[in-house]
Amino acid sequence: MKIALIGFGNVGQGLAQILRDRAGSLAAEQDFRPVLVAVATRSRGTLVNPNGLDPAALLDAMAAGGLDHYPIAPGLDRGWDAARIARELDADVLVEASPSDLQTGGPALGLCRAAFAGGKHVVLANKGPVAVAYGELMDAARAAGKRLLFEATVMAGTPSLRLALEALAGAGITRARGIINGTTNYILTQMEDGMSFADALAQAQAIGYAEADPTADVDGWDAAGKARILSAALFGKPRTFDEMRVEGISKLTLDDVTAARAAGERWKLIADVTPDGLTVAPARVPLAHPLAGVMGGTNAITYTTELLGDVTLVGAGAGGLQTGFGLLSDLLALHRGR
Ligand code: HSE
Repeated sequence: MKIALIGFGNVGQGLAQILRDRAGSLAAEQDFRPVLVAVATRSRGTLVNPNGLDPAALLDAMAAGGLDHYPIAPGLDRGWDAARIARELDADVLVEASPSDLQTGGPALGLCRAAFAGGKHVVLANKGPVAVAYGELMDAARAAGKRLLFEATVMAGTPSLRLALEALAGAGITRARGIINGTTNYILTQMEDGMSFADALAQAQAIGYAEADPTADVDGWDAAGKARILSAALFGKPRTFDEMRVEGISKLTLDDVTAARAAGERWKLIADVTPDGLTVAPARVPLAHPLAGVMGGTNAITYTTELLGDVTLVGAGAGGLQTGFGLLSDLLALHRGR
């Protein structure tokens, strides 16, 4: 499988680490031999090589300051840009892992359109295009006979979408409710141990949980973007931000967190999605509630179903390697033809 990767920050590099470290087991256990034929960044160079790029050398080059440090190799071309890669490069799949623009979909939305027009599947960690243009992109994929996959956009590599869309297909999901932002959950967890909001946010950024602009996390917009993706994918109800109530955690103080704890509760940023609407807002959750025990960068989602009752999934919600795995899981789904 020939892969063109757009965006080489935490998530793109997470995928490269996985390809570097697990090539042997992916080949042996999954019969999967991915070849990176392009990596594009906004400001740190772009590489194309139909013969394949070496993930280890890509990571070394980034550690040295950018893709300009990637060694000369037969077939290597440094003159492409992302738009031309999406449109013209001979690749099976375009992987989009550049920063999310939840207002417009950003340049990634155009790249998705170009990729389908150019006969490629699209796999996204970038939430923007799915949150903003789910219906249009699904139509474009269908028209091109290609797939649009986006497991990494909600709860990183924890299979929140595959669980809902495949394992629970037919069970009648009526509601999705949970903690779907890692940064804010990490901050609330650290504040409970007495850390200031600012220090906890700085730590979340250092670990690689936060968005490029972390206000998207703390003000609730990242969770709201994921709630829009869930609404569209689960219920066929694409929504805009104007149609939902979104409140973040920036008004919560150490005193609020301590007071909740003294009352046997915890503040959590909760997303709630039904066919009738969606909200993201902080709520005090009793300690005995399953969501109260979800700490740090871990996320959780409860699907309420007509046939099974509640089904809850708990796992990583953010992080480069964890989100890189979300991309890998979609690539493996394509490889299996599913
Ligand atoms: N900034 C996001 C979070 C990353 O903290 O959950 C995963 O989408």
